[in-house]
Amino acid sequence: MIKAVRGTRDLLPPETALWNHVESVVRDVFRAYNFQEIRTPIFEETQLFARGVGEETDIVAKEMYTWEDRGRAASDHGQSLTLRPENTAGVVRAYIEHKLGDRGLNKLYYIGPQFRRERPQKGRYRQFYQIGAEVIGPATSGSESPARDAELLEMLATLLDRLGIQNWNLQLNSVGSSSDRVRFNDALREALEPVKDKMCGDCQRRAVTNPLRVLDCKVPEDQPTIETLPRVYDYLDEASKKHFEEVTTILESVGVPFEINHRLVRGLDYYTRTAFEFTHGALGAQNAILGGGRYDGLAELLGSPQPAPGIGFAIGEDRLVMALQEAAGDLQLKPDVYIAPLGAGMNREAAKLARELRRANIVAELGDETFRLKKSFETADKIGARFILIVGENEVKADTFALKNLKSGEQVSVPRAELGQRIHL
Ligand code: HAM
Repeated sequence: MIKAVRGTRDLLPPETALWNHVESVVRDVFRAYNFQEIRTPIFEETQLFARGVGEETDIVAKEMYTWEDRGRAASDHGQSLTLRPENTAGVVRAYIEHKLGDRGLNKLYYIGPQFRRERPQKGRYRQFYQIGAEVIGPATSGSESPARDAELLEMLATLLDRLGIQNWNLQLNSVGSSSDRVRFNDALREALEPVKDKMCGDCQRRAVTNPLRVLDCKVPEDQPTIETLPRVYDYLDEASKKHFEEVTTILESVGVPFEINHRLVRGLDYYTRTAFEFTHGALGAQNAILGGGRYDGLAELLGSPQPAPGIGFAIGEDRLVMALQEAAGDLQLKPDVYIAPLGAGMNREAAKLARELRRANIVAELGDETFRLKKSFETADKIGARFILIVGENEVKADTFALKNLKSGEQVSVPRAELGQRIHL
């Protein structure tokens, strides 16, 4: 038997109804903040992620699905392609490629699958889904303003509240501008020099190539050493401190609660200044329901001729749905009516009725004329229909049908023209 690959999964009903509910609330909320949808390809040139996310990140160094895509001719050189491990780099690429800034398209959102070769566990998959949004624009559009950071965070609080997710916790930090980061990286390198030999292989390498990534290390034995390293906040210049203070001041004035976490650095290299995560208690070890931050230099790194500061986030949709299930279970979608044709020649009559009722927005399930009445009742019961509608020869002649409410047991004869109204009640 062939099964779904480890780390991937089938999303089945009734859970899929919850996914659709989440996505429809998300689209409504994003619309109120004037975001529009973008859909980028599921695979891109490997270079995009290597440059955008960063060669030394776990994502690029260990977790990407990458292959050489060769043309048909033997002489063709392969092109290295990668299944997207995240969507920010793709959105910024599209923003530059289509000059979206010139058209005032600065607020974009996406919903779709991402791929990382991680060790699967509860809440961590190799194909998972993200709901994300990005605000990108020329510096003159105000995209670098702390007001954008606060607006995005307030939108997230509104979204989680609207979905009924309780007990979320917003962790906030500033990881500094790119020049702050140069000074912070120097300080880290210096602090790591005497201790790095005691650390894991990854840390030893990163201590030299990209010291900030040492702060992501998950090896338990390295944690006490990491605790002693300098804090990024102490290396922020005045402008970065002021930016961060303004974000927190607006959040306080609109009433969005947050916690400052000086150790939060996030696992992708493009972040500058504001970085954040929302966590949720019910999720266990994989408790980050979403993460994001500002990426002021990313567009230039990906070839934009002009600066285009930006900020965004991605929600782990799998984890969001899981948190909703913990709170309220799945949404159950049931048909309004089961239509039971009774006897030869009744399929066509039942088909006509089903067509009329469905056009009146009634959810109808259709049986088959070979079923005995008992089997029709059993089927209607199994699928949870509210009503069963009997379509027999006598009913067709009289153009009046037996309609039984399967909860109350009440059965009535209803003229064809009144069926829709009766079922809608
Ligand atoms: P990220 O923190 O790598 O950020 O991922 C965002 C969220 O995706 C995580 O908080 C988590 O909920 C979910 N997630 C990540 N990996 C997995 C997995 N293997 N299984 C299930 N869920 C997962 C980004 O991807 C950035 N692009 C976010 C961003 C947008 N920053 C700026 N704009």
